Amino acid sequence: MAEQPLAGKVALVTGAGRGIGREIALRLAQDGATIIAHYAHSKAGADEVVATVKAGGGEAVAYQADIAKRAEVKAMFALIDQYPGHLDIVVNNSGVSAGGSLADLKDEDVDAIVGINMLGPLYIASEAASRLRDNGRVINFSSSVAKYPLAGAGLYSAAKCAVESFTESWARELGTRGITVNTVVPGATSPGMIDSSPEYTEFFASSSPMKRIGKAEEIANVVAFLASPAASWVTGGNILANGAANT
Ligand SMILES: NC(=O)c1ccc[n+]([C@@H]2O[C@H](COP(=O)([O-])OP(=O)(O)OC[C@H]3O[C@@H](n4cnc5c(N)ncnc54)[C@H](OP(=O)(O)O)[C@@H]3O)[C@@H](O)[C@H]2O)c1
Repeated sequence: MAEQPLAGKVALVTGAGRGIGREIALRLAQDGATIIAHYAHSKAGADEVVATVKAGGGEAVAYQADIAKRAEVKAMFALIDQYPGHLDIVVNNSGVSAGGSLADLKDEDVDAIVGINMLGPLYIASEAASRLRDNGRVINFSSSVAKYPLAGAGLYSAAKCAVESFTESWARELGTRGITVNTVVPGATSPGMIDSSPEYTEFFASSSPMKRIGKAEEIANVVAFLASPAASWVTGGNILANGAANT
């Protein structure tokens, strides 16, 4: 049997029903973690992740919450308190992107982008802080467009910059208990949100010397390392995984 560095650990992965989150949940399960597969709308996807983990001999459960709503996050943690009862790893993967010109700023886009990308990870981390066992892990998600902001997507970039700032602060706050906090900073990655835009897929692929975009499993590999005991001294960092694309 393959080595399981996360045996005995419990991992919450937000947005585990599709995209990068699905790959992360399956990878952490492969490494031995019990998986809490969170979803907001993708119940079928989260249930499929749970079934796949169980079929492989692992443990998993799916819980729903709109992470932009603090009451729903609290309700989900009440379920986590019942089962599995504790946490070792939190992957704040959920995120949404929306763009548009400055002159056409829509209230619903502001609420979604700030709520899901910035406040959601804060609400999750706040509930997780007292429940994470010593030497736990918090893994946040930014985007390479936080480093290279695109025209028309300034609020998304700014929300991700806020997450990178949280990361440094939380690493100092939680580090006293051996808990590490890092941010993964992907470039364009498939399967994931980039799939809805062939034009941007081509744009990002051409800006990497490797002339392609990333694979979700490549991002899951980075998360698996940060979640592992081997990463105990890596904290407060923003880990860029974008194939050296300059966008
Ligand atoms: N793919 C890329 O090119 C790329 C590049 C840079 C950074 N990222 C970042 O990587 C992370 C994963 O992105 P992805 O590409 O996998 O995106 P995706 O395929 O569009 O999936 C988005 C995820 O966010 C969840 N979500 C949406 N609204 C939510 C809400 N109100 N509450 C809780 N969860 C919600 C979705 O869950 P439901 O389906 O259940 O609603 C879904 O699992 C994000 O943080 C994103 O910003 C992605």
